[in-house]
Amino acid sequence: MKYGHFDDENREYVITNPKTPYPWINYLGNEDFFSLTSNTGGGYTFYKDAKFRRLTRYRYNNIPVDNGGKYFYVKDGDTTWSPGWKPVKIELDHYECRHGMSYTKFRGSKNKLEVEVLQFIPLSFWGEIQKVKVKNASPDIKKIKLFSFIEWCLWNAEDDMTNFQRNFSTGEVEVKDSVIYHKTEFKERRNHYAFYSVNSPIDGYDTDRETFIGLYNDLDSPDVVSQGQSKNSVAHGWSPIASHYLEIELEPGEEKELIFMLGYVEVEKVNKWESKSVINKQPAQDMISAYDTADKVDKAFEDLRTYWDNLLGKISIESGDARLDRMVNIWNQYQCMVTFNMSRSASFFESGIGRGMGFRDSNQDLIGFVHQIPERARERIYDIASTQFEDGSCYHQYQPLTKKGNAAVGGNFNDDPLWLILSTTAYIKETGDFSLLDEMVPFDNDPARSKSHFEHLKASFYHVVNNLGPHKLPLIGRADWNDCLNLNCFSEDPNESFQTTENQKGGTAESLMIAGLFVVYGKEYVKLCKRVGKKKEAKKAQVHVDDMIEAVKAHGWDGDWYLRAYDYFGNKVGSSENEEGKIFIESQGWCTMAEIGKEDGMVEKSLNAVKEYLDCDYGIVLNYPAFTKYYIEYGEISTYPAGYKENGGIFCHNNPWIMIGETMLGRGDQAYDYYTKIAPSFLEDLSELHKVEPYVYCQMIAGKEAHKPGEAKNSWLSGTASWNFYAITQYILGISPEYDGLAINPCIPSKWDGFKMKRVFRDVTYNIHVKNPEHISKGIKKILVNGIAINSNIVPILEKGKEHSVEVIMG
Ligand code: BGC
Ligand code: NOJ
Repeated sequence: MKYGHFDDENREYVITNPKTPYPWINYLGNEDFFSLTSNTGGGYTFYKDAKFRRLTRYRYNNIPVDNGGKYFYVKDGDTTWSPGWKPVKIELDHYECRHGMSYTKFRGSKNKLEVEVLQFIPLSFWGEIQKVKVKNASPDIKKIKLFSFIEWCLWNAEDDMTNFQRNFSTGEVEVKDSVIYHKTEFKERRNHYAFYSVNSPIDGYDTDRETFIGLYNDLDSPDVVSQGQSKNSVAHGWSPIASHYLEIELEPGEEKELIFMLGYVEVEKVNKWESKSVINKQPAQDMISAYDTADKVDKAFEDLRTYWDNLLGKISIESGDARLDRMVNIWNQYQCMVTFNMSRSASFFESGIGRGMGFRDSNQDLIGFVHQIPERARERIYDIASTQFEDGSCYHQYQPLTKKGNAAVGGNFNDDPLWLILSTTAYIKETGDFSLLDEMVPFDNDPARSKSHFEHLKASFYHVVNNLGPHKLPLIGRADWNDCLNLNCFSEDPNESFQTTENQKGGTAESLMIAGLFVVYGKEYVKLCKRVGKKKEAKKAQVHVDDMIEAVKAHGWDGDWYLRAYDYFGNKVGSSENEEGKIFIESQGWCTMAEIGKEDGMVEKSLNAVKEYLDCDYGIVLNYPAFTKYYIEYGEISTYPAGYKENGGIFCHNNPWIMIGETMLGRGDQAYDYYTKIAPSFLEDLSELHKVEPYVYCQMIAGKEAHKPGEAKNSWLSGTASWNFYAITQYILGISPEYDGLAINPCIPSKWDGFKMKRVFRDVTYNIHVKNPEHISKGIKKILVNGIAINSNIVPILEKGKEHSVEVIMG
């Protein structure tokens, strides 16, 4: 069953049934200022940091689940309704929610009154606009009443949800003309406030929640709306809100437009006040007047569209399958921007208070984003590397507002450092900007402890070399990519976190996943050293890579697949000898990508085992058989019920590792089959089971041993986005940036006739046409660049600003 459809022309998903199986959301904003918006208007807004600068309140895990947001109430005669269906929830004559690129548009109509709400955040602006259009489609005059509604958050979202003894006394607002200002704590240490305005005189307002709603009502029937008259309440403590009240008269066929704005302002300390206790409103006024007419708003909306045209114009394909095209050309790239911005902080599954920017997460997110805005990628790499220590280890997370490492979470996740090699080489390959390597980058955010970025990469590489275990395999530390494989933790206390609690001393558990990762990015490191003339270093590093390959062959092979780890006691994890968890996906992915033992058939055997034991109808599960009891020596992984999350769930992030592994063997049919199993647009018809948005990847789909296989959770913020984009574009379609050109090496389903890709790379436009006359999966007979054959599969960097044709004949 479907709840809407794709509109590829407009790059939108159009939801036509508001009762989706879960809130289907969108993100507004591209830099600094962000909102989350569900298909019924739920969600919230924040500036930079979803924990420290939350502007509007949102209650997670509410009843019903998505209750609270930015709402409008329309009172037309005796009928009250909302254009996004919620919160009033009376059936509409027409409902439509269009989630587009950084905007959402609601259209609701009832009794021949049409209301459209367009929500977006203009580029480089610290405010969200709601353009509201009301139209009388009836033959009679209509006199309607419109109420807006938002609920302020008292800034620190965690405190806001916990510290009520204080919070209920701190709230402060001001109202002037049509603007409601939220100024809680402004009189002390804060130099920022928020406001909610409308570009028209109002007939009233409310700022005290209980006055507006009534203590015993729900959001669907606020007192003020029922009575059809606002009460001009001014909040002192308790829960401040902002609601405008407007009376609107419409002739038959008449249409009116209103511009609402939710904005955020920072003022200099010396300019905080207009007069005693009266805040300086000038900055807010300036923002409001920047968008006080529909024309100005339309222009900003157009600019946003152009911005996305440019971003998405850098890679686009024609494959003959609309489902694939819309993933690659639109939604997967869009999601990559969102994961770049949010890391794992704020979604409908991540509360915005628990997690900042992840070291490994943000590095991986870059591989799906770097082609879009390389300058921002460069800055991000710098920020991430600044949270590293001299020995290569690093903070696992940092807060976006302060950019400082998060001490409460700590470090010692031993895969973390290696991802810096991935992001850095991806950036240089995309841009050709080697100067990043010479940039002086602090350790632990201390400018006095700066070294070149190259030295950071070196520290990352040697962090593995310097932390090997008894089998000369990498020590896992707290955990590797799999946060839940806590082999040195031994936790018996349900009140402690597996991620942060003290590990058992002397832990020597080793990870085959890090081993594979090290071989892949160790080779990259060697290649980079060679490319920048560090020959001695390249040679030295190569020895360590070779040693690792040997260690895997000697101690990491189980006969038919790669082991996953050695535990604290030196016992095998992920072996046919184990009763449960006999085989794991991560080491199969990384060791096959690293092509360890390919010549001995190990890669092929490993991937065949994945197919046999891990693959199922909905994707590839993480491990099999899933754990059915708690193994104290394994940690959190065995806490999850079988088939969920890291315990036998389809953890979509790691499925592309197998797809890429398959391309190493040239098995394009299999690689693409895995791709289509988890690509959301291919699952649209399954929406009822899948539950989450059909336009973005989710972190997890319940696996074959789960209670409900195929049911997905945790959409949006997952490394799945960037890895799938990377796998499909660079390994399956096989067009990948290299230091000196664009490498062409497709590995596609044999039944394909070919495909086209337009790729803007280093300011050069390549119109690539891959033809597959012999219906094979891999292999190139000929490449013609502007009609002339080249004898390499790397297309050089051609004349900038021009379009060039690249014809690839497979064979
Ligand atoms: C989840 C992991 C996640 C970790 C973050 C665990 O509970 O299962 O997916 O990475 O928390 O701290
Ligand atoms: C989600 C986390 O964000 C990521 O860092 C981790 O690698 C995966 N879960 C797997 O545990």
